[in-house]
Parts: sequence; structure tokens; C-alpha cells
Amino acid sequence: MSEKYKKPEKLAEGNYWVGYTNTDSAFRTNAYIIQSGDEIALIDAGSAWFFKNMSAQIETIVDVNKIKYFIQHHQDPDLCSSLPFWEKKIGPRKILAHSKANILIYHYGVKSELVNVDFINWELQMPDRLIKFIFMPYMHSPGEIMTYDTKTKVLFSGDIFGGLSFDWHLYANEDYFEAMDAFMEHYMPSKEIVNINMKKIENLEISMICPQHGSIIPGDRVKDAIENMKNLECGSYLYE
Ligand SMILES: [Fe+2]
Ligand SMILES: [Fe+2]
Repeated sequence: MSEKYKKPEKLAEGNYWVGYTNTDSAFRTNAYIIQSGDEIALIDAGSAWFFKNMSAQIETIVDVNKIKYFIQHHQDPDLCSSLPFWEKKIGPRKILAHSKANILIYHYGVKSELVNVDFINWELQMPDRLIKFIFMPYMHSPGEIMTYDTKTKVLFSGDIFGGLSFDWHLYANEDYFEAMDAFMEHYMPSKEIVNINMKKIENLEISMICPQHGSIIPGDRVKDAIENMKNLECGSYLYE
């Protein structure tokens, strides 16, 4: 990994990549923060394995005690197992996830308030911006969501649009769709479900897509990435 990406990277106003990640795996994890006024939302908090390094990395740019929200796109351990460590460091906060995800996130032993985004009108008002949550059921979890920053137009997409590759770059290069297909074809359940959900974002103004694995997809490649997802032979279609 280039030295450059051992530090957080500013993506847009108040949006940072903070993903400290294992360099010897194709399955790299990304985390992000939204900083708005005096509030911070940590998106897909990360794995217990990387907590020490990631929290140290975040501390180089913000006061972690200002983290008010953990936004969790689903319940998997690669994004949730650090939550009890975060709570030990800064105390309980609010965990925002879909009700079908929070019911499982509870079992990490967390003490934070579990806020179901489907019960709060799918949005969160932060001091200088409105955050919207987009329901993406079964991609790959029944309570999957994406997070959209209406101020910067950045779409935080969780596992969706994620890629698997040893040859990692923070920003997607021309080989990225191949890396994306390698992950998505097994984790996405069916072409039908993918196409129903892609309709929710294909007319959205998106400045970049920030997945939890792989590389960030810049604005000029967003349309192609969505098309690529819609045409992907995946999940049940692989085993017909
Ligand atoms: Fe996952
Ligand atoms: Fe993941």
C-alpha cells in the first residue's frame, strides 16, 4: 500500500476515507466519516482487528469524542466487530442501521442506543447537511442500506459496488469492474433483486461511490458502475 493511503484522505467537504486496512488480503475494508459542525458520523466502523490502527488514524484528523453516530450498513463482523471497542474508548453512542440489522448488531454486546433508520423516515439531520438512507434489501442482507450525503452527493454503499483485489487503489482504475464482479457475483442474490434496487439510485446525482471493500468509484464512472451491476450474472443465476 502506498504510504499516502496510511493516512485519512479527504474526499469532499466533511467526507473522509479513514479505512485502515490489512495489506495482505484481497478483502480490504474501508471506513468513512462525515464531519458536520460539531458532530461526527463514523460509517461502517470496521473490524475488531483494525480498531487500534483505525482509531489512531481517525484521531489524526478529528476528536473521536465527537463521534455521535455509528452508521452501519448491515450487521457483518467486518464492519461491526469494532463497535464494543469504540464504546470502551468513547462510551456508548447511537448506532444507526435498519431494524433488521440492528436486531443482530445488538448481539455484539453493544450498549449504544440502536436507532432504526426505517423508523426515522430514512434520514438524519446533521448540523450542515441532511443524510438520507436508501433501502437495498437483500444486497446482501435483508436490512441493507446505503447512505447518501445530500450536501456532497457522495454515496456510501456498504458491500454494494465493493471489489476484491490484491492490486488495491483508493480510486478505481480501469480494472476495477473485474474486481467488483469477483465479489458481487457471489454476494448479490439475483439479477432481479439487483435491478429493482439499482432503480433507486440510477437517477440520483452522485459525485462518487464509496464502498466498504475495494475502491472508490469517481463520478465519471458511476453510470458505468450501475450498468455493470445491472448486467451482472450473480447469486442464484450462477447455479441455474
Ligand atoms: Fe457483508
Ligand atoms: Fe463487508
